[in-house]
Amino acid sequence: MRVSVVGAGHVGATCAQVLAQKDIANEVVLVDIKAGLAKGKALDLWETAPIGLFDARLVGVADDYAETKNSEVVVITSGVPRKPGMSRDDLISANAKIVKSVTESVITYSPNAKIIVVSNPLDVMTYVAYLTAKVDSARVFGMAGVLDTARYRSFLASVLDCSPKDIQAVLMGGHGDAMVPLPRYTTVGGIPVTELLSQPRIDEIVARTQGGGGEIVQLLGTSAWYAPGAAAAQMVEAVVRDQKRILPCCTWLQGEYGLRDIYLGVPVKLGVGGIEEIIELKLRDDEMRLLNESAKHVSEVMRVLDGMHLF
Ligand code: 2OP
Repeated sequence: MRVSVVGAGHVGATCAQVLAQKDIANEVVLVDIKAGLAKGKALDLWETAPIGLFDARLVGVADDYAETKNSEVVVITSGVPRKPGMSRDDLISANAKIVKSVTESVITYSPNAKIIVVSNPLDVMTYVAYLTAKVDSARVFGMAGVLDTARYRSFLASVLDCSPKDIQAVLMGGHGDAMVPLPRYTTVGGIPVTELLSQPRIDEIVARTQGGGGEIVQLLGTSAWYAPGAAAAQMVEAVVRDQKRILPCCTWLQGEYGLRDIYLGVPVKLGVGGIEEIIELKLRDDEMRLLNESAKHVSEVMRVLDGMHLF
């Protein structure tokens, strides 16, 4: 079973590494427009197989989508990352065209693939892939909720000095500074976090989560890759192993949460069919207001996309 990762930059290569090391696919195909980059990274990763003890074959190709034929899942990481001072939304004009053209090639060779979008601005790039692929929305979804909850859970683990394994959380909304971590649905070994931390402390962690991507951009001068790559790989695993995991994913809403015709992060069941179910929580008014604000930001970026007349 083949999984392809388009874009052999830091995020794509990290995703391929996790997929191979965990033997999530028999074959991982890494594609990049830059000659040598995908081939070099795939070869370097393959050379770790005798040390890491995995069987997954790694193949690197320079923009040759024939090699991705019949992939079960394709992860799209293509596009430019942000630099300090930029928001994810500033990337739309460059990345929309790239994601459109990549999706055209992907769907030509893998008409039945599930497509996971990682490129930014995430929610609108997932929409671009959906408009381009013209397949059931259950098969086109975006990564960011897994990444954003991972950040939220890791910050909580640091503050509580406990294992990140024991922290479960729900986070909704777009992949931007208006994302909505939900402390009411956050537990530590089954204990509501609201019983372990004061509201001001929780508010600080929520704010750090919302700016989590920006914090890394400030430190590195470019955007993150370890957590985004690992998050995308976890979603691939949920699909190819039909795990039916309950994860926050960017998905096409058709009336759920009172929202329609928008890609936004909500909890879903992720399995071999892709988005197998959208889980609707009964949000309080204040939580719903935050979700609507986040959706408003995503809609504004969708309007910028409309103005580009790509579709
Ligand atoms: C991030 O939040 C890359 O948008 C991604 O780090």
